[in-house]
Amino acid sequence: MADNDNRTEGDRFWPSEPPRSEPYALKGSSGLDWGMQSRLARVFRPSTSRTVMLAIDHGYFQGPTTGLERVDLSIVPLLGYADALMTTRGMVRSTIPPASGTPIVLRASGGPSILRELSDEQIAVSMEDAARINAAAVAVQVFIGGQFETQSVRNMTALVDQSQRYGIPVLAVTAVGKELTRDARYLRLATRICAELGAHVVKTYYCAEDFDTVAAACPVPLVMAGGKKLPELEALTMAYRAMEEGAAGVDMGRNIFQSDDPVAMIRAVSAVVHDSLKPLAAYDQFLRRAALSTQPADQRHAD
Ligand code: R5P
Repeated sequence: MADNDNRTEGDRFWPSEPPRSEPYALKGSSGLDWGMQSRLARVFRPSTSRTVMLAIDHGYFQGPTTGLERVDLSIVPLLGYADALMTTRGMVRSTIPPASGTPIVLRASGGPSILRELSDEQIAVSMEDAARINAAAVAVQVFIGGQFETQSVRNMTALVDQSQRYGIPVLAVTAVGKELTRDARYLRLATRICAELGAHVVKTYYCAEDFDTVAAACPVPLVMAGGKKLPELEALTMAYRAMEEGAAGVDMGRNIFQSDDPVAMIRAVSAVVHDSLKPLAAYDQFLRRAALSTQPADQRHAD
């Protein structure tokens, strides 16, 4: 119980000082509710407004992908280097230590496997369960130009409606089918549709030409997808260019967990994203860390 004996009137009212209230700076997010902003601030590091999200949700449609056969062994050691982990509720509950503190971006759509038409997805997680898991955001695939385009857009808009009630942001993942070209024209179309229909964050692929127009036309943060495994220097160069051209971060999977040294790679990606380290310098850092980790423990220098 508060002590009443020494109670005095406070005098620190500073009546001439205007009230301070910092606006939330993340692109397109200043008008969101506090809970939504708070969750976004867990995903996008407040000091840079950028994120390194580690995507390991591949199993939801393609089973045990190379590098994800044992998430407990291959991914859990990376958690401390990721700003957020994009994964499924099955993997969260079975394998991800709650004490890791890594914000979860929860895969919330699914249905077809790689043996069927991938765009035929439905909502696969309720917002209530996302809240129970303490998800920082939910992720939904949107197939613009795909066979089930409207259904996938409807999945997203239904989640956006629910997200307003729960304060959990929606990340729209623009999925590009094999028959579509990943050029700026297509990516502008896909990302803008997602943002216009309410996605709080959009994930898309990098394109070598005019990616800056894709980022500029998207009114909410755009995170770059990694795609298939590339040599490390190429992946770091792609991430660097995306950041320079307006991305708010990366959501990379295979280029990290299929690297010869995933810890060294995620740290190099993080240096590119948060410190704007140039690709060659980041690659050099990757090589040095990778070389160090192959040495016996007693010969390693502190890093
Ligand atoms: C889209 O299908 C999923 O979110 C993927 O699991 C994720 O985008 C894959 O990441 P990456 O292409 O970097 O391996």
